[in-house]
Amino acid sequence: MSNDSFSQNMDKILVHGGHTLEGTVRISGSKNSALPILAASLLTRDSCTIHRVPDLSDIHYMLTILSELGCDVERASGTVKINADSITTAAPYDIVRKMRASVCILGPLIGREKEATVSLPGGCVIGDRPIDLHLRGFEALGAAVRVVQGNVKVLAPQLRGATINMRGRFGSTVLGTDNLMMAAVLADGTTIIDGAAEEPEVVDLANFLQKMGAKIEGAGSSRIIIEGVKKLHGCEHTVIPDRIEAGTFLIAGAISGGNLLLKRVDPSHLGAVIEPLIKSGYHIESGTDTLRISPNGNRKSMKLETEPFPGFPTDMQAQMCALLAGSDGISVVTENVFPQRYMHVAELKRMGADIELQGATAVIRGVPKLSGAPVMASDLRASAALVLAGLQADGITEINRVYHIDRGYESIDEKLNEVGAHIERVKA
Ligand code: UD1
Repeated sequence: MSNDSFSQNMDKILVHGGHTLEGTVRISGSKNSALPILAASLLTRDSCTIHRVPDLSDIHYMLTILSELGCDVERASGTVKINADSITTAAPYDIVRKMRASVCILGPLIGREKEATVSLPGGCVIGDRPIDLHLRGFEALGAAVRVVQGNVKVLAPQLRGATINMRGRFGSTVLGTDNLMMAAVLADGTTIIDGAAEEPEVVDLANFLQKMGAKIEGAGSSRIIIEGVKKLHGCEHTVIPDRIEAGTFLIAGAISGGNLLLKRVDPSHLGAVIEPLIKSGYHIESGTDTLRISPNGNRKSMKLETEPFPGFPTDMQAQMCALLAGSDGISVVTENVFPQRYMHVAELKRMGADIELQGATAVIRGVPKLSGAPVMASDLRASAALVLAGLQADGITEINRVYHIDRGYESIDEKLNEVGAHIERVKA
């Protein structure tokens, strides 16, 4: 995606429903891994080369922030080379405000430069998204945190290792764990993060930091131990496959009743998505880095709760609701990570879905057929759910504000068309 295409963000997508999907989809590198890994390159004056960086607007924002901080950024196809030899520590509001994940530059900036100023993330459509746990973690390492004119200012003349619990009311925090790891790798002494997020993206970041010379143990478990080092060096790394994109394509295959082969995936990251799909009427074959989905009887209802990894991901909840809207029987979905994350429900109802919200639970009564309608994308995963709903609907589903989907899915329309969907992108 060229920089120009990011400005064409009022494009629409028209999904012509009813096509069966058959063929092979190549999954991109993980957005949620790539974002903190790109930020981590701030920790060294040497160059870092990162492969399989997806071409997404969120990645574009992160690269712009890094450039504004003074980094040299070169990008060729999926490879990004970053040199952060000489940097400043205040991130420009105009770019930071566009993406909440910008907050993950805080950890590396205070780790390396002992100070950082970043705008507080504003309100977010998927509910309150505080960063109190990130800040509590920095304070435990000895940093002073102040909020001044909408900015978080962190001063950390001397970071010292500490034992910190990062678990909050809704479970562990992924970017909070990332941020703390990135600050602690250059702190004096040992840091123990209890209640650490166990997501594969945290492990990928830890692997990247280890290649830079950091000493980290336990990433992928709830206790991460970091032995601070004096200095980090450049390295080369390949980002893991995007498990949420892969899960979304599994559901696209499920919804269309076709036979889809996903390549360049890590099936071990997708157990919590594969298992309910098998129970609800699909056959799934796992290879070393492939997954194939095909129908195995009628689509059945299910009961599902979102949980931190290895549970069912909140980032797949909206897409699963789209599948269940057309499955037999009554399904019950509970959102435990972001209890307000149901913006897709009103739009799915416009397409004929029968969904009742009871607090953080959606009761979904499957209907035989959805019908195409004009709908509004409201956030990244909600938009993906609307595309999936459109695939199974009668007629045309017109999705407005598709810039949300371009934040996190590399050419989703093209990838779906290659396997038999009929999707048009209408330039604004
Ligand atoms: C990351 C992912 C996002 C995913 C989410 C949960 C990236 C770029 N984004 O977001 O796609 O949906 O994990 O898997 O990796 N919380 C607090 N205080 C904090 C931080 C978080 O209360 O300081 C709460 C949140 O409001 C939420 C829960 O903790 O209820 C989990 O959020 P968190 O894991 O931090 O999400 P992100 O890391 O922002």
